[in-house]
Amino acid sequence: MQIFERINGFYLQNKKIFTNFAPEMSWEILNNYPKEQICIVSDKSLIRHAQWSAMPELADIPVLWLEVSEATKSLDTVAQIWDFMFAHHLTRRGLLICVGGGILTDLGGFAAATYKRGIQYINIPSTLLAMVDASSGGKTGINYRGLKNAIGAFAPPADTLIDPKWLKTLPAAQFLSGFAEILKTGLIERPDLLWDRLLQYDLDTMPLDSLTPMIEQCVAIKERIVQADPNEKGLRKALNFGHTFGHAIEEISISNAPISHGYAVVYGLIAELYLSVTKLGCPKEPLQQLTQLMLHYYGRPNCKCSDMEPLIALMQQDKKNERAAEINCTLIRSVGDPVINQVISPDDAREALDYLFSL
Ligand SMILES: NC(=O)c1ccc[n+]([C@@H]2O[C@H](COP(=O)([O-])OP(=O)(O)OC[C@H]3O[C@@H](n4cnc5c(N)ncnc54)[C@H](O)[C@@H]3O)[C@@H](O)[C@H]2O)c1
Ligand SMILES: [Zn+2]
Repeated sequence: MQIFERINGFYLQNKKIFTNFAPEMSWEILNNYPKEQICIVSDKSLIRHAQWSAMPELADIPVLWLEVSEATKSLDTVAQIWDFMFAHHLTRRGLLICVGGGILTDLGGFAAATYKRGIQYINIPSTLLAMVDASSGGKTGINYRGLKNAIGAFAPPADTLIDPKWLKTLPAAQFLSGFAEILKTGLIERPDLLWDRLLQYDLDTMPLDSLTPMIEQCVAIKERIVQADPNEKGLRKALNFGHTFGHAIEEISISNAPISHGYAVVYGLIAELYLSVTKLGCPKEPLQQLTQLMLHYYGRPNCKCSDMEPLIALMQQDKKNERAAEINCTLIRSVGDPVINQVISPDDAREALDYLFSL
C-alpha cells in the first residue's frame, strides 16, 4: 500500500504527526482490525468526490451515506449509524471510519464512542474546519432539543488522516469558515509559529498546497493543548478564544440570516480582541490586522442593534460558564499569551459589541 505517495497530506497517528510519508505508515492501522469489522460513515454530498479513488484501501468497506446538516446532527442519525454497525455485526473490536466535515466526524465519533460502550474510530476530514479543529481533540457529540452539541463524549479518534486535496471542491464560504479557526489558533500561539505567516498569506492567490504547513501547525498546537488538558479544565479553554461572542453571534444569526461557525468566530475574535486591548492592555496591532482580514474576506456581521441584549443573554447562558449568568471569555495579553476565565460585565460586552457593529 503506497497511499502516502498519492496523498499530499499528512497523517496523524497515535497523536504524532507525520509530514514525510513513508509507505509503511500508510493504512497499516487497518491491519489491526478484521476486514469484516470495518464500516465507513460519510456525507452523501461526497459520494462522487474524486478523493475516494485515492483511497482504494477503502473500496470494499461498506459505507453508510448520510444527509448532513445541523438538523441531522441528531440522536436519530446516531441510531442510524448504530443500526448500520449492528447490521454489519461489528463487535467491540470493530472500527468506524468517518469521512466528512465536522458534523460527520462529531456524529460518527459519538456513535463509535457509545456503540457497545465504545469502539475505535478514524477521522478523514473533508472540510478545512474539520481538518484544523473538529477531527482532532476528541470532542464528539450531537445537538439535542435545539441545543448545539448538548450531548456528547470525549473520545479521541485512533487516527486522523488529513489530505488537503479534499478541499478542492469546498465552497469558498466553507473554506473561510475553517480559516477562521486557523486565525484563532494563530492568535493564541507564539506569533512566529503561525500569526506572522498568516499575515503574509493571500487567500486569493496562494495555492492550496501552501496551506498544508499551517494546517499541520494548527493540529500540532491543538493536540499539544488537548494532551495537557484533555477534559477542558484549564488550558484547553484557550482554544475557545473568540467563541463566547462567536457562539452567541452564530446562534442569533439563525433568526436573521444564518452564518457559518467560522464567520461567527471571526466576529467573536474581533470583540474579544477589543476586550483584550481594553482590559488586559494587549497591543492594538492584532485587532487592526484581524479587522482588515475580516473586512476583506468575511464582511461585516449582519447583527442589528436590537440584537445586543439577546446576544448578552445568550452569552450569560453559555455552557462554558462556570457560574450562572456570568460572561466568561478567554482573552489575550498579546499574540501567543492567552488568559482563560476572564469574567466580563454586561457593560464590557456591550462596549465590545458596539465596537464590532461600528466597523
Ligand atoms: N468536535 C470538535 O472539536 C468541533 C470543533 C469545531 C466544530 N465542530 C463541529 O463541526 C461542525 C461544522 O463542521 P463543518 O464546517 O466541517 O460542517 P459540515 O460537516 O456540515 O460541512 C460543511 C458543508 O460542506 C460540505 N462538504 C464537506 N466536505 C466537502 C468537500 N470536500 N467538498 C465540498 N463540500 C463539502 C458538507 O456537505 C456541508 O454541506 C459543527 O457541527 C461543529 O459543532 C466540532
Ligand atoms: Zn470553533
